[in-house]
Amino acid sequence: MNCSVGSGLHIVLTGAPGCGKGTQARLLKEKIGIAHLSTGEMLRAEAKTGSDLGRKISELIDKGNLVSDEMIIEMLSKRIDEQDCDKGFILDGFPRTLPQAEVLEGMLKDKGINLDGVVEIQVPDEIIMERILGRYSCMKCGAQYHDRFIKPKVYGVCDVCGGTNFYRRIDDNMNTVKNRLVNYRSLTYPTIPYFENKGLLKTVDGTGTIEATSEKIQKALNIIKD
Ligand code: AP5
Ligand code: MG
Repeated sequence: MNCSVGSGLHIVLTGAPGCGKGTQARLLKEKIGIAHLSTGEMLRAEAKTGSDLGRKISELIDKGNLVSDEMIIEMLSKRIDEQDCDKGFILDGFPRTLPQAEVLEGMLKDKGINLDGVVEIQVPDEIIMERILGRYSCMKCGAQYHDRFIKPKVYGVCDVCGGTNFYRRIDDNMNTVKNRLVNYRSLTYPTIPYFENKGLLKTVDGTGTIEATSEKIQKALNIIKD
């Protein structure tokens, strides 16, 4: 795999809940200017509208269960057609099942897009729990913080927008995280050997700092050299 920046990089960031997909995708977006498509964020945005669909989505997410393949595939296919994806994209949280992985392949082929790589961020469960249970975000701009690892410079004030109200995701509680991990192993993990067999998989240790992990991801994708 040899990915060059500027030629339209199309990548998947995968791994267990809380491994750092969103954090790393945001950094990569800043670095190489391609779109960040998080299916979790798309679903949370729909849930927030309070529509019938949004209520159904909330019920599933809040318990740590996946929404249907059909729904998420339709949502993602439309999103990929938006203009900001012309220069490439990072998929975060998709594909999450083998059927989603198979559909992605066909969908990209139809759109004339090649998948450049799939990066699996590996983090053990104990660290995942600590990362998820400590996570919170700014209500106004969505900037993410962590009780221990990423604190705002001034206590209670968002570094990015100065907001003073924060929230925690409803699915970020011990029982739901346990269910999310079970679902990850049974439904999402089978996509790892699937992509490995296609020669697309790169595995990266995500236990180091955010910056160290970002460097490993960029090296795995040949965005920076060893
Ligand atoms: P989604 O939003 O995708 O959640 P997830 O996969 O459970 O992952 P998270 O967003 O919790 O974690 P992350 O890997 O992004 O880690 P983060 O960077 O935030 O999906 C939510 C739900 O939507 C699913 O459960 C499902 O119901 C539904 N859904 C979504 N996609 C779907 C699909 N395709 N099909 C069906 N259903 C779907 O990091 C976590 C914390 O750790 C943060 O506080 C961060 O600051 C901190 N951190 C990150 N890296 C480090 C580091 N290196 N050192 C220290 N702290 C770190
Ligand atoms: Mg995320």
